[in-house]
Amino acid sequence: MTGTLAAQANFGGLEVVAFESRHAQEMASLITRFGGVPRVAPALREVPVEENAAALAFGAALLAGKLDAVIFMTGVGTRRLVDVLETRHPRKQIVKALEGITIVARGPKPVKVLRELQVAITITIPEPNTWHEILTELEENARGFTLPGSRVAVQEYGAPNEPFLDALRARGVQVMRVPVYHWALPLDLAPLRKAIQALVEGRAQVVLFTNAAQVEHLMRVATEDGTKEQLLGALQKVVVASVGPTCSEALAHHGISIDLEPTHPKMGPLVQETGQRAKEILKQKAENSRQWSAGPSDASHTVTVDSGEPGTRGKFSTDPKLRISELEPAARPAWEDSRFLRACRFEVVDATPVWLMRQAGRYMKEYRDLRARVPFLELCKNPALVSEVTVTAAEKLGVDAAIIFADLLLIVEPLGLHLEYDKGEGPVITPGIREVADIDRLQDVEPEKSLAYFYEAIRRTRADLDARLPLIGFAGCPFTLASYLIEGGGSRSYRHTKALMYRDSGAWRALMERLARVLTQYINAQIDAGVQAVQVFDTWVGCLGPEDYREYVQPYTRLMLEAVRPGTPMIHFGTGTAMLLEAMRDAGGTVIGVDSHVELGHAWQRLGDGVAIQGNLDPVVLHGDLDFIRMRTQRILNQAAGRTGHIFNLGHGLLPDTPYENVVALVKMVHDLSSEQISTGRNPVPDWKFSRRKSDQY
Ligand code: CP3
Repeated sequence: MTGTLAAQANFGGLEVVAFESRHAQEMASLITRFGGVPRVAPALREVPVEENAAALAFGAALLAGKLDAVIFMTGVGTRRLVDVLETRHPRKQIVKALEGITIVARGPKPVKVLRELQVAITITIPEPNTWHEILTELEENARGFTLPGSRVAVQEYGAPNEPFLDALRARGVQVMRVPVYHWALPLDLAPLRKAIQALVEGRAQVVLFTNAAQVEHLMRVATEDGTKEQLLGALQKVVVASVGPTCSEALAHHGISIDLEPTHPKMGPLVQETGQRAKEILKQKAENSRQWSAGPSDASHTVTVDSGEPGTRGKFSTDPKLRISELEPAARPAWEDSRFLRACRFEVVDATPVWLMRQAGRYMKEYRDLRARVPFLELCKNPALVSEVTVTAAEKLGVDAAIIFADLLLIVEPLGLHLEYDKGEGPVITPGIREVADIDRLQDVEPEKSLAYFYEAIRRTRADLDARLPLIGFAGCPFTLASYLIEGGGSRSYRHTKALMYRDSGAWRALMERLARVLTQYINAQIDAGVQAVQVFDTWVGCLGPEDYREYVQPYTRLMLEAVRPGTPMIHFGTGTAMLLEAMRDAGGTVIGVDSHVELGHAWQRLGDGVAIQGNLDPVVLHGDLDFIRMRTQRILNQAAGRTGHIFNLGHGLLPDTPYENVVALVKMVHDLSSEQISTGRNPVPDWKFSRRKSDQY
């Protein structure tokens, strides 16, 4: 009975949209915990202080004595501006530079912040603190300061005040605008657009707002895309929950009615209480809509209903199309309970999940036969064949996940470069990228359009694949992809890549940011098309030391991973990364993929319990006999020591000349040995120091 009640008192399988950014992952798991299907589309991106270029330019001008006055418009902006300056200059120096010039505070808030900083204010603007008062004060009470010919910086927070800036310019002032942003739109707007679409199409039935800026950003994107009216219409039909009064005010400002505010303005209560009432509110809305549908049949017609019940006030749509049956929860897909996804979530499994990099490839006769007829690139572009290759490999091997058959470098063509696979020599990309002009020539990519065949292949494969098997998507990381673009193919020394990185950090940054952005879109579109996890390959990053990794690679991998829609496990893989593991973990990923140059247990101990681990049998071990393969497999399982969160894989891709029977035998061994280990608890001790001699006895 209690169980039934509890089951009813949650989202019960409804799709729940949220716009939380910083706590996106937490939001997704809260929604899941209360029975919802999360669709978290971060609406904000925190702008790192060092990216506030305008603020830093202001600092340089201020310290060089090139300003006569600064107008501080807002308290928050003033504080943030000083924070940014402090990343470059000692506070004393900043305050000293401000002392020498005219300081204007628009109202009590900037006054407070400037006092705290012990900056002497020259002019405080009287109420109502509009720009008209600022002009009057500057013209009439400026204590020796004259507008014509002066150089004035205006701190802005949010939208610039154009009439004010024009009025200053009209008086002969040289104006320096200083916008200090804290939040910007996310780099990849696709998740936000998909969320809007899900709401408009009635697939999502609940929406959670956790701050006011999310409302502004959502409406900005919808306005720019021309979907604002549809979105507003959709928001009348779904459950709209707001974390607290400021957020509700922003919603009201856009004419969006709120169904619910939690008892405490926090994420937990917001999700829980919305979960408890979602179904009931939806029912009420649907009933109201039916009641009113006897009236005018125009679907966009709305009426205001106030039942007096808390949480049910507001505007309801008269759209008669909405029916209770649409609110029934979708069935949970079978792959959710797969060993692979359970391991990604640190859940207990009956046997260690295993899949193999390059599991669909030349070691397999079926693949070689197909390749004798179809060139590699052509194969990648044929969704029916891709599905066949992917599904056949997964099913024949009996692995726990399929990886979509494609290539890391497909993205190169829409960037405007030529891609070719030379016989036996790997990919050749022309022309290689060597300088800024080459980077500028890269074309803008909309992966969903230019790689439509790839996404079609994912949809098709997902439909053809056993529903119990998860499908893994993949992408290169910015560094590994950049190395192919710069070298024009594979490389031993990465000398051109490193030369660009060391010689022209501006060009490097431009390229890496560009790639990070494209790759995020590339990945998010794979998630939309139907993959359950994504592996990001930073295959060649081991050519760098930890310091170079942190400086030239980590920020961009992080940029890419942070913008990936939460809720999908990400496997972050590289080779030769023994020195980089912690730094890779810090860049992001649910699972860290390790190669055979590290002991798995040791690597896991360094990485800590917060991440799952994948790996790491040397692919060449498969050239040995079955006893040797079994011994090495057992050694890895022993290192994992039965802990939750281990996915068995090779340390790198299967080699083309690997004996097929050994690959099949390996998969069975992993399952047999691990299920015995798990059921008998034979190796429950996390013994990462597993001694070499002892392990050889297996
Ligand atoms: O793992 C899988 O089963 C999925 C398929 C997959 C391929 N490439 C198929 C492929 C995946 C995940 C990749 C990723 C990839 N592609 C990486 C990163 C993976 C890694 O090994 O770390 C890289 C660096 C590439 C680029 C690439 N594609 C190279 C260097 C080569 C030539 C090397 C080779 O093995 O021939 C390719 C071609 C390629 N990609 C083949 C396959 C099956 C061989 C093509 C053929 O059939 O001749």
